Amino acid sequence: MTQDELKQAVAQAAIHYVVEGEIVGVGTGSTANFFIDELAKIKHKIKAAVASSEETAARLRAHGITVLDLNQVTSMAVYIDGADEITPQGAMIKGGGAALTREKIVASVADQFICIADGSKLVDVLGKFPLPVEVIPMAQTVVIRQLNAIGGDARLRLKDGVPLLTDNGNVIVDVHGLQITDPVALEAKINNIVGVVTVGLFAQHGANVCLLGTAEGVKTLKF
Ligand code: A5P
Repeated sequence: MTQDELKQAVAQAAIHYVVEGEIVGVGTGSTANFFIDELAKIKHKIKAAVASSEETAARLRAHGITVLDLNQVTSMAVYIDGADEITPQGAMIKGGGAALTREKIVASVADQFICIADGSKLVDVLGKFPLPVEVIPMAQTVVIRQLNAIGGDARLRLKDGVPLLTDNGNVIVDVHGLQITDPVALEAKINNIVGVVTVGLFAQHGANVCLLGTAEGVKTLKF
């Protein structure tokens, strides 16, 4: 199976976690896009969706799915999203698509985080994928210095030669070369740096379920 077929398989499996008549939180990225396309097939069964990025909101709307502002929502049964890396304990690196802050905010409202990922995302130790950190632009230099001091190689993310800006108007710093043996502690430490908006470690509140696409079928990991 190709990577896209694995992503599609987990997207289809995730539909079973959508609660009828409820609001669904929807992530960002290529795997989330497959999920949105599956969600469209049962859109009459859900109340609405909350999007974790402008890109996701546009794709949901294009399918005729109602998108609510998170401020209109008090509860959400599930939040469904991909990951860049996930451990057997359910800790994740996210933010490869620069949507980490809104992803973390929407996920915080949901009862359950359902991670959908192809098997290549499962790792014993997080950090081979550069850790994304969303940063207030005026703080980028001071934050990069502090991230380097904790042992990483922090680099400003560029797009077409200029700093990539998030949906929130901030920049992304990617920290290369980390071996994250204590993701809960590192999440707290980086979140505590002044100028950091969000770190793309989802460990304090990791996934509750991971639907992992493998050649042998979709495996369900529960945490
Ligand atoms: C978006 O900011 C990310 O957190 C994505 O969820 C993550 O990068 C996974 O993306 P893919 O599904 O495209 O691999």
